[in-house]
Amino acid sequence: MSGESVLQRVVRILEVFDPENVAVSVTDIAERAGLTLSTASRLVDELVEHGLLQRDRNRRVRIGVRLWELASRAAPMRGLRDAAMPFLEDLHAIVGHHVQIGVLDGTEVLFIERLSSPGAVINLTRIAGRLSLHASSSGLVLLAHAPSEFQDQIITGPLPRYTDRTITDPRALRVFLAEIRRSGVAICPGFIHDDAMGIAVPIRDRADRVVAALSVVVPREERATVLVSILQASARGVQRELGRPMSPAEMSPAETATSQVAPIQ
Ligand code: PHB
Repeated sequence: MSGESVLQRVVRILEVFDPENVAVSVTDIAERAGLTLSTASRLVDELVEHGLLQRDRNRRVRIGVRLWELASRAAPMRGLRDAAMPFLEDLHAIVGHHVQIGVLDGTEVLFIERLSSPGAVINLTRIAGRLSLHASSSGLVLLAHAPSEFQDQIITGPLPRYTDRTITDPRALRVFLAEIRRSGVAICPGFIHDDAMGIAVPIRDRADRVVAALSVVVPREERATVLVSILQASARGVQRELGRPMSPAEMSPAETATSQVAPIQ
């Protein structure tokens, strides 16, 4: 492909890897990255030399440990992740199933951490995985607090349907977003998968900007009310770590809920 830089080709090679494609042959890399086999082989060899990719015993190519190391040691979300992790762990001990934290990236929610249990309800979320804004509880929280031009862009764009309950009507979506801003929570039974319910709340930084969404994914028939207070108490904990002062209105008995409520699962 003429006019394309080596860097662009390398990025396309790295983008071949995802949770479904962790070990890929050079032939498949070439095909998926739209490169000739010789170009793909040469670039893969160089990336392997630098440790950014590595070859396994079957000569399949994987992401290299060095790439993980470089990306992790100054990861942009590290401060948020570190602040959230103890609260995520407490939340998970109480709720079971899945708890996760996601941020807005481009036009999707990107999950930076997730804790799950064996036998938990189905969850389409993965760490470093993405979901649509209009369909997931985290995405809806982030969208609800995004600038209005950005909201318009998403609302007037394609709104793919995951289940019968996914909100795909632009007007209904606007109403739902207003409700999330009013109530401070997105409760989404069956929006992404018929059996699952996502519940998400915003996390604000010291400047009161919504920087992330904290969510749980539980069986759809679970009672949301208790989960909402626990989730909100955890979000306040994360916010405190991020240096956000708590308003008197936010100090409620729910603050101690995390130590009083028995595991649901
Ligand atoms: C949600 O956040 O609403 C959500 C995410 C993943 C699922 C189900 C629900 O699998």
